[in-house]
This record gives sequence, structure tokens and C-alpha cells, in this order.
Amino acid sequence: MKRFFITTAIDYVNGKPHLGHAYEKILADVLARFQRNQGRDVLFLTGVDEHGQKVQQSARAANKAPQAFCDEMTAHFIALWKRLDIRYDRFARTTLEAHQSYVRGCLQRLYDEGKIVFKDHVGFYSVRQEQFVTEKDRNADGSWPEIYGEVVEMREPNYFFVMEPYRERIRERIVREENWIEPTFRRKELLTLLEEPLEPLCISRPKSRVEWGIPLPFDEQYVTYVWFDALLNYISFAFNADGTSRWPADIQLIGKDILIPAHGIYWPAMLIALGLEWPRRLLVHGWWMNRGAKMSKSIGNVVDPVPYIEHWGADAFRYFVMREMVTGQDADFSDERFADRYSFDLANDWGNLVQRTLSMVHRYRGGCVPQSAEEMELVDDECCEIYLRCMENGQVHAALEAVWSRIQRANRYVEERAPWRLAKEQRLEELDRVLVTLCEAIRRIGLLLEPVMPTTSRKVMGFLGEPEDFSFGRIRQTEVLKGRVISPAEPLFPRKEDGVRMEK
Ligand code: MSP
Repeated sequence: MKRFFITTAIDYVNGKPHLGHAYEKILADVLARFQRNQGRDVLFLTGVDEHGQKVQQSARAANKAPQAFCDEMTAHFIALWKRLDIRYDRFARTTLEAHQSYVRGCLQRLYDEGKIVFKDHVGFYSVRQEQFVTEKDRNADGSWPEIYGEVVEMREPNYFFVMEPYRERIRERIVREENWIEPTFRRKELLTLLEEPLEPLCISRPKSRVEWGIPLPFDEQYVTYVWFDALLNYISFAFNADGTSRWPADIQLIGKDILIPAHGIYWPAMLIALGLEWPRRLLVHGWWMNRGAKMSKSIGNVVDPVPYIEHWGADAFRYFVMREMVTGQDADFSDERFADRYSFDLANDWGNLVQRTLSMVHRYRGGCVPQSAEEMELVDDECCEIYLRCMENGQVHAALEAVWSRIQRANRYVEERAPWRLAKEQRLEELDRVLVTLCEAIRRIGLLLEPVMPTTSRKVMGFLGEPEDFSFGRIRQTEVLKGRVISPAEPLFPRKEDGVRMEK
């Protein structure tokens, strides 16, 4: 069986999960479900990044021991993924023993091979980013960009991972493999950076400053830099019980802020140094903005998914974020857009199509799908092809557009064929064909929509007396529902009066 391995970034647990975290996990879940429906043996890995200064500081502010704090925060992430139906196979926590010992093993190897060196480090340090910054990072007016927060001057002997020997190989491969980074326009900045020599990466933090991390195996006075620790989760959690590994990943899904330098430079350099394969593709998503502004805790405009899920439901939330964001671009979150998508796309289009189909079968045929053949295919090969191509490439919004054009076509078909008129005029053969055609259409659309709205699709299959089997091959089957007794109509997306108001 063909395999598919997808990973997401692991989230810092210095706060509760927000819309950005949720979007990424939903996108990964949609792609994983799609691949499962294609019959692949899927491994979907996600998790949390529990070490480092940020988490240490937050734990301190909350007056908690770091591990207790992580346990509590991680529980929020896990609970949210459950509510959102994120069906991951493995959950990485960087505080787990197996991960820590894998990281220590890698560090020891690199140290023994002379790829990690000890030297004095003098420079500017960004507390927020937990990294040393250089003169090059300054704004034109000499100030430090806001993303770095407070920048302080610091001298510190540290351990460094030497990356320059790998620069040319990294550059050459990124040039050659045009689609390694998707969308491809994101390569440009990275390639420019790779034209200049790479500074060694400081991979240690003295315990006197940061204690919440994995101790270096060759010097217990230091802990491992959080990025070096976190990136290795992709490998440490890819091992199977029998010692074999699922690495390399087919898709590594990350946000645009962590492409450069973490996943575009550190990660390939680490993989080359360790003699490991590269992931097959980095899929880089954009950012959710809140009314045009970047979401940030300091502005206080971070969107908490929970009230939206409570009000509109998990499937509606999943649909909204998948439909609204073009993969790779930024998107704006707004209550009005959400309410519109809910009432137009979900209630009026999809919900209405299902409900009217079921109620007509009940009204005119006593709840039994007529023994007739389909009159035409409302979900045709063209739709399936677009869907497949877009889903393979992570372009979920475009796949949804293709499905929606068929939903709208099916609703138009109802108006055009006017089953109520056919019934009144006793044109029963025609009526039967129309009803079968509509039932088959909602069956197929239900199958296509499962990756994005799993609960709704399960409901639709339940109404139709179909098993919860979303294998893609079932779309090609015809005359599946003939003679089937189906459930009475029930609204999939009940009308709702008002939306959830964002705080700011
Ligand atoms: N812990 C690191 C990742 C280590 S991966 C080995 C980290 N964590 S994070 O919590 O800050 O971000 C996790 C993911 O959420 C990243 O991919 C990031 O891009 C994404 N998002 C955070 N805010 C976001 C938005 N506003 N919009 C969309 N996604 C963004 O970085």
C-alpha cells in the first residue's frame, strides 16, 4: 500500500491554541483524510513544542513548575484537536523521554564528528525570538524590528552547529527541486540568503539563563536550543515500535514565519549533517489576519476558535478556514464572512440540497429511493479530476470551489426539473429519475466533503443508509441507492440568528 506521511509545526505551549494553530492542524487533517480516502497508509504527526525560554517564562508568570505548566497547556491543545475532529496518528511532546534521548544522541554524534564546536559568542540577543540577531537584522533607522521584542547585548561561550559546509548543497537542491517549497515564490528570499556564508548556529543555552530544555550530553551546564530540539521531533516520532522509521515526510506543513531560517536552512543543514533524507515537500501556509491586522497577543486580537466552534459547530469552522484561505496566502478573519459562508454555502447550498432531496423522496416515494437509473451525472469526472488535483497539491479552497459548483448545479437542477410539478402531472418515470439523480449526487458530494466536514458527511451517509466508508472509489459507483429506504430530512446546518463577536 502506498504510504503518506504528513507533519505540522509543533506549537509552543506558552499560551492556549489560537486560530493560526487550528488552521494548520485542520489543513493537515484534511490532507491526511483525503489521502486515507485514496487508500494510502497515512501517518499524520502533530504535537507541541514544550521547551525553551518562552515556555519557561510563561510557566514562571503563572507560578507553576514548567512541566506542570506544559501538561496543563498541552491538554488545551489536545482538547481543541478533539473538538475539531483532528484525527492525528501520533502526538509529539518534546518533553517525552524517547524524544529527549533521540535529540541527545544526535547532538553527541555531531559533537564527536566535529560538527559542533565550542566558542565565545558576543552579540545581540532577541529575548522574544530566543536567538542572537545580527547587524543585518536591524531596520534602516538602526532600530530592531518589532518581531524581535527586546534586544540586549550579550557575551556567552556556547556550542555552535557549523552550517557553512552544507550551504552550497542546500542552495543547489532548492534551485533544482523547484517544488520542494510550495508556493514556489517563497524560495526567492531563501535563495538570496543562501548566497552569503552561513553563520554557525548557536545550539546551546547556559542553564543559568534557560534551564527548561534538554541538557547537552557532552556538557550538562547547557541545555539545547529550542529549535534544534523541536525540529528533531519530525524524526524522533517517526520511529515505529519495531525500530523502522516512516521518515521522510511527504509533506511538512508550516507557516510562512518559520520557513526562514528554521525549516529552510537549519533543518536541511541538520539533515545533511546527520545523513538523513530531506522531506519531500515543504508546504508553507500564510497567516490569518484579524481585520487586516496581524493577530498578536500584545494587541489582544487573537482569535480563539472555541466560541466559534460552540456557536457554529466544528464542521462549519473547518469549512470556513479551508474555503476562505488560499493555501500559501494570507487571509482575513471576520465574523461577517463567517456568518455569510455559514448561511449561503452551508445552510442554503449544501444543507438545503440534502434536505430537499430527502424530503422529496419521503413526500413522493414514501422514503424509498426509486428503482430507476440516474438521468445525468451531477458530480462528473471533471469535478472529480479538479478535486483530486487540488487536494493532492494542498489547494483545498479550489477543491471546495469545484464541489460547490456541483452543489449549485444540483440545486439548479431541482428548480429546472421541478419534481413537484412532475408529481402533480403524474409524470412518475421522470420524477423517479430526478429523485435517484439527486440522491446519488448528495451521496457523491458527501464522499468528497468528508475530509473537510467529517461529521456532516457521516450524517449524510447515515441518512442514506450508507456505511461510513469514504474510499474515493465509491464515487465512481453508480446506482448504489436504488430501492434504499432513507431517513427523513433533518437540517444539517440549522439557521442561526447572530454570530460571535470578536473582542476587538
Ligand atoms: N514551536 C515553533 C514551531 C516548531 S516546528 C519544529 C513555533 N510554534 S508557534 O506556536 O509559534 O507556531 C506554530 C505554527 O502556527 C507555525 O507554523 C506558525 O506559522 C503557525 N501560526 C502562528 N500564528 C499564525 C497565524 N496568525 N496564522 C496562521 N498560522 C500561524 O513556531
